[in-house]
Amino acid sequence: MEVIILPTPDEVGRVAAAKIAAVVRKKPSAVIGLATGSSPRGIYADLRRRVEAGEVSFAEAHGFALDEYIGIPLEHPESYASVIDRDVVKPLGFASDRVHVPNGRAAIPAVAANEYDTAIRLAGGVDVQVLGIGTNGHIGFNEPTSSFASRTRIKTLAPSTREANARFFDSIDDVPTHCMTQGLGTILEAGMLLLVAQGSLKADAVAAAVEGPLSSFVPGSALQLHEHAIVVVDEAAAADLQLSSYYRSTYENKPEWQHVA
Ligand code: F6R
Repeated sequence: MEVIILPTPDEVGRVAAAKIAAVVRKKPSAVIGLATGSSPRGIYADLRRRVEAGEVSFAEAHGFALDEYIGIPLEHPESYASVIDRDVVKPLGFASDRVHVPNGRAAIPAVAANEYDTAIRLAGGVDVQVLGIGTNGHIGFNEPTSSFASRTRIKTLAPSTREANARFFDSIDDVPTHCMTQGLGTILEAGMLLLVAQGSLKADAVAAAVEGPLSSFVPGSALQLHEHAIVVVDEAAAADLQLSSYYRSTYENKPEWQHVA
């Protein structure tokens, strides 16, 4: 795992965006795994700037969102289908028919979840998966105790997740109780995992995921099983890391030949 500690949230977005842009320049039809929430906003903003500057194009790229709420209509402004369309598809110029979001409104959700997992495989798998992390250590909506082998499925949101996401709704009562999320096993099949975190509220979860024991109690620790996981954090989110000086000096002195992406 590579851990990159940067001074500001803007830098986190810029460095993570540069990695995605490099993947898409090399493979214009790359499959990007898309997270929602606040954490990746800086990435999408920086990618938009790169698209407008002609540095990269997502016209041929594919996208698969990590998760979707169950119980709100498609056109709700906070459905992840709406968020992905607003924050990613339109600003980055993806073709909308190449970007997929789990169908949280399916009559038989378990079937839709299986189909979503299959669709990712049929698209050739995710090349780079963008991830945020919840204060409880979740990635996607894989709440604590999610199996490392889990596939796309229905989950019950943890109370802390509903509280954290209440800021996007009128009240906590409006936050859905269930979701459809890519599983940890699904996420681990991506070619590269790119997790970003900013702010002191994430410090505990980042330290537990990066340096703690491998445990389904901290779903983010699944990154330790991946051969190409990159964690990009600002100073505040890095505050509880024990080996921060090692990560800093490794990044600052990284020779060109050590760059794999
Ligand atoms: C969203 C997702 C979640 C968020 C996490 C952090 O698609 O999968 O895991 O990344 O809840 O949310 P923010 O970024 O809003 O702090």
